[in-house]
Amino acid sequence: MNGRKDGTRRSMLLPAAQPDHPTCFNQHRGVRSTVFEIMNLLILFTVLSSTLFHTTASAQSSQNATTFALLYGYPLLAWQNYYAPIINEVGANTWYHNRNLQTAADREVVKPNVDTLYSNLVYDLPIQNIEITIPDIPADEFKLFSFYDPYGVNYANVGTSGFYKPGKYLIKPYNRGNGNSAVGLTNSTSSRYVGVVNTPNFYGTILVRWGATSSNLPQIHKYQDACSAFLVPTPDAIVGPAAPPLLQSLIPVYNDSALPAPNVLNLLVAFEPPNPPPQLAAAGISAWNHSYTPPPNVDLDLANATALRQALATTILPSTNKALNNNWTLLAPSTLGIYGDDYALRAAVSLSGYLALRAPFAIYPTFNNVSASNPGNAGVIFLEADEAVLLTFSGKPPVDSQAGFWSLTAYGGDLGSYHLVPNERDVYALGDRSNLTYPNGGRVYGGNSTGEEFQILLQPADVPPPANWTSNWLPAPSGGGNVVPQLRFYGAEEPLEEGTYVYPKVEKIGVITGQGVTVPATGAGSSVDVVGGSVVAAVVCVLACVVLLG
Ligand SMILES: *[C@@H]1O[C@H](CO)[C@@H](O)[C@H](O)[C@H]1NC(C)=O
Ligand SMILES: *[C@@H]1O[C@H](CO)[C@@H](O)[C@H](O)[C@H]1NC(C)=O
Ligand SMILES: *[C@@H]1O[C@H](CO)[C@@H](O)[C@H](O)[C@H]1NC(C)=O
Ligand SMILES: *[C@@H]1O[C@H](CO)[C@@H](O)[C@H](O)[C@H]1NC(C)=O
Ligand SMILES: *[C@@H]1O[C@H](CO)[C@@H](O)[C@H](O)[C@H]1NC(C)=O
Ligand SMILES: *[C@@H]1O[C@H](CO)[C@@H](O)[C@H](O)[C@H]1NC(C)=O
Ligand SMILES: *[C@@H]1O[C@H](CO)[C@@H](O)[C@H](O)[C@H]1NC(C)=O
Ligand SMILES: *[C@@H]1O[C@H](CO)[C@@H](O)[C@H](O)[C@H]1NC(C)=O
Ligand SMILES: *[C@@H]1O[C@H](CO)[C@@H](O)[C@H](O)[C@H]1NC(C)=O
Ligand SMILES: *[C@@H]1O[C@H](CO)[C@@H](O)[C@H](O)[C@H]1NC(C)=O
Repeated sequence: MNGRKDGTRRSMLLPAAQPDHPTCFNQHRGVRSTVFEIMNLLILFTVLSSTLFHTTASAQSSQNATTFALLYGYPLLAWQNYYAPIINEVGANTWYHNRNLQTAADREVVKPNVDTLYSNLVYDLPIQNIEITIPDIPADEFKLFSFYDPYGVNYANVGTSGFYKPGKYLIKPYNRGNGNSAVGLTNSTSSRYVGVVNTPNFYGTILVRWGATSSNLPQIHKYQDACSAFLVPTPDAIVGPAAPPLLQSLIPVYNDSALPAPNVLNLLVAFEPPNPPPQLAAAGISAWNHSYTPPPNVDLDLANATALRQALATTILPSTNKALNNNWTLLAPSTLGIYGDDYALRAAVSLSGYLALRAPFAIYPTFNNVSASNPGNAGVIFLEADEAVLLTFSGKPPVDSQAGFWSLTAYGGDLGSYHLVPNERDVYALGDRSNLTYPNGGRVYGGNSTGEEFQILLQPADVPPPANWTSNWLPAPSGGGNVVPQLRFYGAEEPLEEGTYVYPKVEKIGVITGQGVTVPATGAGSSVDVVGGSVVAAVVCVLACVVLLG
């Protein structure tokens, strides 16, 4: 995160997780778990006909409930990784502003965007409401106030592509006051407020995205400083169980030395929503007595492996991946960010990109060219030192005409730990705010724009292309390696979501060096050594890092 000093990031109270050689660990546990599962099935089969049926069925249902609880609770690890340092630095109910864009030198956030500055506020509402001010920002500047519960559900938005009106908003739990209100943004009965945001839980966050250009950071800082937050004491009671203030509820729950699964179950105790699904109680989680009591005979490793397998399985289902065209796909466009009772998707997304936005606020298409004959990780392209990727855009992507924008960002690095690519010019992304040119030399944006094709060259940072390519050159890692081209569309118009816009054609080519001379690729046939989806990579990451989609 920007603006935070290294020394203050790790807290005594809420320490961040440690890496613990996760890759070897995962493989080991995975194999063991499969064996356990087969044994369990055999045991179940053997005892079905015996008088022990009831005991086994109840052990089985505790086991299932624990698997469910983990699937339900895994996003809380992402919450812990991202928000614990912020809570420790500024506390709850206070704005925390990032003042600078990320650079290749920043390694804390995986796959950071270089399109927006963030502001964060962690709200803590067991005994009070909070009032925030949303400043007056011109329509042609992108701003989006997104409200999330700790599970990463984006239940309300105020800003570009949605409802936007400057002024004061009241943030309160949906079940405080006269009966239960609908979760989300509602009208206020008081003239003091533009709107009321009814939160699904006592705890959650507001994440603000401010559209950044090369020159507007000072202006964004003014907007950030114009955001206020005040506690509003309330005599109104909560309908349902009370909860302790955030810091108090968190004190005993997170153990830096423990494995993810017990941490998830303990975090669930602290962040259990009102009206939790019954499986949480069956798994031994009780918000009422603030404890996790493991039921007898539960194999946590098995439950953990089963839950993660279910989460990963959902992301590779064809039905979850909407095919756009030219091998670009969109993960669950109708449910991403909302999830409903799709806890598997919710968990999977929290492992690969916490705090996703819903369409049309933003969409994040993935280039997926992985198949049996071309194994690798979805989204990842492996380049030899003399290879490049040429992306041919059919025309300007259709984004919100007032304040929408788009970018293609390049990430490099190891599986599960992708960062901005170091390069001499500090170019990490290209899009509508950069000086892209058409092949005839005209500017794609800001000139006499036409609807024709333009190209972006993703080529190693140590192989400069000819001068006419410079403004369309997005540096890939020097010497080649894994590169992840990430498209982001903020304020996406329907053709982008529906796939009626023709997405960029993506071709692996030899590097372009001389006067337009293309060197034939020698790396044809090379493949990445790890098979699986990008989410698999992210599971490695969730132990120790923060991934924000954008
Ligand atoms: C537990 O889950 C398994 C597999 O999902 C299922 O077959 C079984 O019926 C469940 N058992 C109980 C007691 O819910
Ligand atoms: C708020 O009131 C306006 C009319 O004043 C109405 O158009 C709008 O739908 C209402 N919004 C909600 C969330 O009730
Ligand atoms: C944290 O977890 C480790 C490893 O499981 C355990 O040895 C230790 O007792 C735990 N600490 C607390 C305070 O529970
Ligand atoms: C659960 O899965 C994660 C990720 O694969 C792994 O690191 C951990 O050891 C597993 N087991 C537990 C008990 O958390
Ligand atoms: C917590 O409450 C549950 C029931 O809600 C109960 O089964 C469990 O024993 C309690 N744990 C403690 C430590 O009191
Ligand atoms: C990528 O696109 C090509 C051409 O449309 C198609 O033949 C191929 O099956 C696609 N690959 C994947 C993994 O969808
Ligand atoms: C784009 O070009 C203009 C004029 O040539 C220059 O002033 C500006 O800094 C460039 N912007 C970027 C992002 O390179
Ligand atoms: C650069 O010039 C070559 C040769 O004329 C042309 O093929 C290519 O499209 C140009 N690239 C850009 C980005 O204008
Ligand atoms: C746009 O086109 C007009 C007419 O052809 C020309 O006069 C003008 O200079 C062009 N502007 C730019 C920025 O290329
Ligand atoms: C897509 O996969 C095909 C093989 O199926 C391969 O020839 C091609 O280079 C791949 N494209 C990219 C950009 O990796």
